[in-house]
Amino acid sequence: MALPSRVAVVGAGTMGNGIAQVFAAHGVSVSLVDIDQALLDRGTANIETSLARFVKKGQLSEADAQAIRGRVSATTDNGCFAEAELIVEAVTENVAVKKQIFQRADQLAPAGCILASNTSSISITVLGAATARPDRVIGMHFMNPVPLMKLIEVIRAHATSDETTQKVMDWSRELGKTPVEANDYPGFVANRILGPMINEAIFALMEGVSTREGIDEIMKLGMNHPMGPLTLADFIGLDVCLNIMDVLKEGLGDDKYRACPLLRRMVAAGHLGRKTGKGFYDYD
Ligand code: CAA
Repeated sequence: MALPSRVAVVGAGTMGNGIAQVFAAHGVSVSLVDIDQALLDRGTANIETSLARFVKKGQLSEADAQAIRGRVSATTDNGCFAEAELIVEAVTENVAVKKQIFQRADQLAPAGCILASNTSSISITVLGAATARPDRVIGMHFMNPVPLMKLIEVIRAHATSDETTQKVMDWSRELGKTPVEANDYPGFVANRILGPMINEAIFALMEGVSTREGIDEIMKLGMNHPMGPLTLADFIGLDVCLNIMDVLKEGLGDDKYRACPLLRRMVAAGHLGRKTGKGFYDYD
């Protein structure tokens, strides 16, 4: 099935700009929407940097990179929803903010438009219920870094239709990704398993089982993971990791999902990982 001709991506952060880039790289005109012009500027700069890496490696010609850039228009105006066949929301992990965006998208978008969320843990069913089209609301959970990672976790909410799911599965394949379906339970599959692993690594650090380097090296070399769990936590963002654990604990009601106090303390200190320059490691 052909990709939609127009897509709107809401939220120009790490995930949003990566998602916009991937659609544009497959010929789709994308509106990258944010409320803050500075975030849009940073988002388009990130797309530039990523494309430049592909050009440098000879995986993309300069002309193609320029064409991809040209297909992404950054805007603070959500009037572009009126033309979209698919809207992908990738804003901060806050239910109230996401619900508001879904309500606005539902009002402005054409009746057939599919509304997707890239949330890592918030219930898609809750977002669907905020609209008058819950059958056309779905999760499209991309992985970071979006231009490189193959997986899209496709989350079916309670009311998502077979037709919507099929379309999103087909579109994901057209993007060169591998979609895998999951049902709408807290953390879905990826973060239900990844969250506790990272959390346990933080407990191991807090209890002095090993150093940060030791824990990362053991998991990297021993399990053949590309990054150790503490490096990965810094990469994902410690606030996101904490949010995942809180959603798991609340949604599944089991103490085994309690967030490590060291994780909570680091988030309180504003040491969120790469994005703030400080997490388990320091970044320039
Ligand atoms: N765009 C284009 N190219 C990129 C890129 C980007 N955004 N990011 C990295 N690259 C390229 C680099 O240019 C480099 O290319 P060469 O090797 O050809 O020079 C290559 O990728 C490797 O990059 P680095 O040398 O910087 O570092 P690395 O070898 O550690 O690889 C990585 C980086 C691909 C991120 C790898 O470490 C990795 O796969 N890590 C695990 C990522 C992961 O687990 N992601 C999921 C996070 S969880 C999530 O996203 C969901 C959630 O809800 C929390």
